[in-house]
Amino acid sequence: MAAGGGAGAPERPYELVVFGASGFTGQFVVEEVARVAAGGELRDALRWAVAGRSREKLQAVLERAAERLGKAALGAEVGVLLCDVGDAASVAAMARQTRLVLNCVGPYRFFGEPVVEACVENGASCIDISGEPQFLEEMYLKYNKKAAEKGVYIIGSCGFDTIPADMGVLYARDKLKGTLTAVESFLSVKSGPEGCCVHDGTWKSAVYGLANQDNLRKLRKKIGYAPVPVVGAKLKRRGPVFYNQEFKQYSIPFIGSDVSVVKRSQRYLHTELQETPYPEFFSAGLFTKKGPTQQQLDGTSFTMTFFGEGYSEGQDPQNGKPNVKICTEVKGPEPGYVATPIAMVQAAVSLLEDAACLPKQGGVYSPGAAFSKTKLIDRLNKHGVEFSVISKPEV
Ligand SMILES: NC(=O)c1ccc[n+]([C@@H]2O[C@H](COP(=O)([O-])OP(=O)(O)OC[C@H]3O[C@@H](n4cnc5c(N)ncnc54)[C@H](OP(=O)(O)O)[C@@H]3O)[C@@H](O)[C@H]2O)c1
Repeated sequence: MAAGGGAGAPERPYELVVFGASGFTGQFVVEEVARVAAGGELRDALRWAVAGRSREKLQAVLERAAERLGKAALGAEVGVLLCDVGDAASVAAMARQTRLVLNCVGPYRFFGEPVVEACVENGASCIDISGEPQFLEEMYLKYNKKAAEKGVYIIGSCGFDTIPADMGVLYARDKLKGTLTAVESFLSVKSGPEGCCVHDGTWKSAVYGLANQDNLRKLRKKIGYAPVPVVGAKLKRRGPVFYNQEFKQYSIPFIGSDVSVVKRSQRYLHTELQETPYPEFFSAGLFTKKGPTQQQLDGTSFTMTFFGEGYSEGQDPQNGKPNVKICTEVKGPEPGYVATPIAMVQAAVSLLEDAACLPKQGGVYSPGAAFSKTKLIDRLNKHGVEFSVISKPEV
């Protein structure tokens, strides 16, 4: 398998480690890694480990995963590493033993930085499922340069928040023949008779995010983002609640990190590809202490629909109104604990297997910036997060 760590790095015992494997989300990530490791789609056998604070909990997660996958056991191929965010030496030791850490320990604003720091210092790449813009952008400010020097990739928000949105915009861009200049995206989550909800870990991450909006504004000033140039017509601003004509129902703006992450990807890609869409996102959600039941997970699915507009080939985006439209869709299973592990694990597979298609330099990246040239969309399609064109570009 190709390297995710620094060039010329000596062989490490593991290709990937799932950190926070005992968490509500972590347990499903472990299952997904086990499924992919057994699936025969990787170039070589995957050497991987689970990591966390409690050996008993980690063993229990491996046993549960084996049972759910219909295997007698997940055997010696899976290592067990003890690691506590509060113990820097244990985090460094974990990072030294692997090429890639899949970090499921959140809220990231409290637990994320020591993991990023240890990965960068010790030459491991890191993928997380943070939906916390302040954490993601702070990591960019503090570690982008060092990660580039070390040749490692720190790629945040690789869960439901924000792979479907970020890769969905790139998919719409690639399917529209011409220049895509604006995208609006609408999320709908369908639940079965049992309803759906989100686990407490995600609730805490979202609440602290909302409480720290001011600090995020200050952080962005410090980073000093260059404005992305406006190409073509600007999107109409939506109110806090509005009637959606396409779906004939009311919608509210999405509160997660999708918009900020997609903007970061577009800012990065603009320099290479001169593409500048401006998406907006909408959703609603429920949170519980226990997390959803298996029946709730099985009965829930999401559809994210993208309405893009732009200019056909040969049409100057600086002159006249947009003259081409496209509608695309990303569909998948329950977002938080089925689609998120799929997205995170396929991002990991892309990082390890499509290494030659990653940005030339390491750094702190959003998913769209890191994976735009990899096979991530094809990989997701094969694993139940499906990208499709609903209506072909019309001029
Ligand atoms: N992007 C998305 O769409 C998406 C979807 C789902 C979840 N998430 C995010 O994933 C994160 C985890 O959510 P969750 O619901 O799975 O939370 P959770 O069930 O509370 O799990 C937290 C995990 O972190 C571990 N942990 C806590 N403190 C630690 C420490 N000091 N050192 C090492 N490990 C520590 C816990 O280990 P113990 O078992 O030892 O306590 C547990 O494994 C949240 O930030 C959430 O927002 C994102």
